[in-house]
Amino acid sequence: MAAAPGRRLPAALLCAALCLGAALAVDRSNFKTCEQSGFCRRQRGLSPGQSPYRALLESLQLGPDAARIQLINEATKVPLLLELWGLQGNMTRIRIKELNPLRPRFEVPDVLVAEPPVERLAVTGRDEGSLELSLGPAGHRLLVTEKPFRMDLLQGRELLCSVNARGLLFFEHLRQRRDSDTPREPTAEEGAAAEGQDEAAGGAEEAGDQSEKPTETTAEAAEEPGSWEETFKTHTDTKPNGPTSVGLDFSLPGFEHVYGIPEHAESLRLRTTEGGDPYRLYNLDVFQYELYNPMALYGSVPLLLAHSARRTLGIFWLNAAETWVDISSNTAGKTLFGKLLDYMQGGGETPQTDVRWMSESGIIDVFLLLGPAPAAVMGQYAALTGTQALPPLFALGYHQSRWNYNDEEDVAAVEKGFEEHAVPCDVLWLDIEHADGKRYFTWDPSKFPRPRAMLEQLAAKKRKMVSIVDPHIKVDSGYRVHAELRSRGFYVKTKDGSDYEGWCWPGSAAYPDFTNPEMRAWWASMFAYDQYEGSTETLFTWNDMNEPSVFSGPEVTMHKDAVHYGGWEHRDVHNLYGLYVQMATAEGQIQRSGGQHRPFVLSRAFFAGSQRYGAVWTGDNTAEWEHLKISIPMCLSFGLAGLAFCGADVGGFFKNPDAELLVRWYQAGALQPFFRAHAHMDTARREPWLFGEDNVALIRGAVRLRYALLPFWYTAFYHSHRHGLPIMRPLWMEYPEDTTTFAIDDQYLIDRALLVHPVTEQGARGVQVYLPGKGEVWYDTVSYQKHHAPQMLYVPVTMSSGPMFQRGGTVVPRQERVRRSTECMQGDPFTLYVALSPQGTAEGDLFLDDGKSFDYETKARFLHRQFTFAGNTLTARYPPPP
Ligand code: GLC
Repeated sequence: MAAAPGRRLPAALLCAALCLGAALAVDRSNFKTCEQSGFCRRQRGLSPGQSPYRALLESLQLGPDAARIQLINEATKVPLLLELWGLQGNMTRIRIKELNPLRPRFEVPDVLVAEPPVERLAVTGRDEGSLELSLGPAGHRLLVTEKPFRMDLLQGRELLCSVNARGLLFFEHLRQRRDSDTPREPTAEEGAAAEGQDEAAGGAEEAGDQSEKPTETTAEAAEEPGSWEETFKTHTDTKPNGPTSVGLDFSLPGFEHVYGIPEHAESLRLRTTEGGDPYRLYNLDVFQYELYNPMALYGSVPLLLAHSARRTLGIFWLNAAETWVDISSNTAGKTLFGKLLDYMQGGGETPQTDVRWMSESGIIDVFLLLGPAPAAVMGQYAALTGTQALPPLFALGYHQSRWNYNDEEDVAAVEKGFEEHAVPCDVLWLDIEHADGKRYFTWDPSKFPRPRAMLEQLAAKKRKMVSIVDPHIKVDSGYRVHAELRSRGFYVKTKDGSDYEGWCWPGSAAYPDFTNPEMRAWWASMFAYDQYEGSTETLFTWNDMNEPSVFSGPEVTMHKDAVHYGGWEHRDVHNLYGLYVQMATAEGQIQRSGGQHRPFVLSRAFFAGSQRYGAVWTGDNTAEWEHLKISIPMCLSFGLAGLAFCGADVGGFFKNPDAELLVRWYQAGALQPFFRAHAHMDTARREPWLFGEDNVALIRGAVRLRYALLPFWYTAFYHSHRHGLPIMRPLWMEYPEDTTTFAIDDQYLIDRALLVHPVTEQGARGVQVYLPGKGEVWYDTVSYQKHHAPQMLYVPVTMSSGPMFQRGGTVVPRQERVRRSTECMQGDPFTLYVALSPQGTAEGDLFLDDGKSFDYETKARFLHRQFTFAGNTLTARYPPPP
């Protein structure tokens, strides 16, 4: 039986996985569709054009910073508070919450790096049914329409975005449970009957109660069965707060291309969701995920980008609860010819994309990032959530992982293999089997009796190690980590107040409450060398399963009614959990070095802002060509959402790659920011030298190219760290007016200078490469042949080559003397590749520091040189201050 290799699943899941037979495919029945997710069904059940909301324009309060206006739901009479800000740097913030909530509603902390400075608002127009506000010097105006409530954001005479234009604002206010809200899920017939009754009761209430005060007897949209309790498979969500979801729509005239909202195994350009499920954002451990569908995966960033030849715009929906995103478009399904015809006949509508966000709890808190250039939107998002942390240099080298390297001898042999076969490698990784009975922060005493000596031997070769530290803690009173967490009350609780327990790798496990700052401080302290015994300064960390994965929980995660710090439900904080795990771990590494050294932490789960804490990867992929191919759009989408340090398991996690796929994967992986080979425990060993001389030579070539380009990669990370730009960049970011680039996701730019098109087809003899840029030239980095752009170029490939072009007008720094590891290459000479523009000029830069400390920041100890080639002369100078 080939399915579920080696993964210890609870009986129910195991059965489902085994029933799949040999095919590797997700068991969809483990995960909810929108229809099975009560709030998504309720939200989606609301059709456009019937908004019950009215803006009480007379309630306007114009403070020095914000405008506040009450909204009223005319059916329920429940008032909401709309708050509006114009933010410096071309952003608008819109917040909608209950005016008088029964209890506080969750507002996402710790994601924004700062409260962004505000612009002065002014009322610039007013008539009976509308109000016009100016939002600062960029000329943005917001038209607020009273009834039905909608908002239109304009710049000059151009409409950028409309809010609630389709009337899909749906805010489920907090309410007392009524006696009639039955505590169990009724049968379908009962449900239908109950709905009828509710409607009847609601109608009577509406007629009888004309007061403006919301009361429990106020007319309420019929409460569907499941509003106060919901069952999925064997799990019941008790929903003590009842229905609490929020939803809102945004219309984007002029936009036909939208991107972002990772993580999905999807093309770069998002598809419309009409007729299918919305894209789902809910951090989940999806076993054997499927490609090209909107199902949720391990991480979530609720940032969507819209791009047209005229401008780029971002919608950042700051909500950490389960979220679904619907996308529709008035041009979907129209052929190019159809659109052309529309245009010629003059009757065509402006293309428009509509986006609808739906979250299970919390408030509506949205940032409109108004660009107008793609880089400006990225900068705006970075101003809100921070930029990619500058990694230590070694982390940009090659990482060798496997579940598992079995013992110290195995580690030594693998290290020797790299030495003997002259394949550079910076880091060896240890998966869960290295710990004593999956008790993280410990070592298996028989397999890893002398961890410190092992680390020192690696360090002597200038290599590092990463060990896994997952956030599920084995319930075992003899395990110090567990005993302390329990006695300090640091575990997530059940709704009844006991420690929440679930099933994961160690068997019965409890989950530290990473939303609690005291717990995070304690966790960070566990990375001190005397706490994490056997650790040294060359040991770094991998946080896995931090969605969190709970094998025995609903949808393989934590029950939503579990309780966190501050009394918040897991429902409210779910998508934040993984970010906090990585945050606390990174903090631990910084602290153990006395604040000196930059951390390296890889995380599987993530949220907006995770870029500040380290790297992310695309989880458990499969050794198939399609998975190699999708690693590119997946990492491009991560990058657009701020997560620049992305990679995919090289070789594929499940199943065994053949030599051709493995070689192609190394070649592609070497061109992605995080470059790690990893494999499932039931796969055959696949260290590069096990594939014969020819293949190890090909793999060596790919890894050596990575190392030769390290100065370029490191400088690219520095750019990303400073300005928030992705390192793997879709072509349209650099060529925003070239519509040909808008849907390209099999090639990309590294920073702005190198264009690559990794080979992802079996048996490929050549690939079609699009070279963008009117009047620009590109140089093949192997033959140095010059090509004029724009053009579609057929590039023949052999097993040793993949197309790479340097943009005319750029300077790329390399280190040609490739050695065993990045550390060995520090101090080696640099070679500048100057590729001239048609005008005979070029520009580039190089950033260098010690590769590991914060001194570049705290003591200005770094070297940054700007190179300019003009008039046949190359000059190096300090770049202008940022
Ligand atoms: C998860 C990870 C995978 C790891 C395994 C065992 O499936 O995604 O990379 O090897 O757990 O820790």
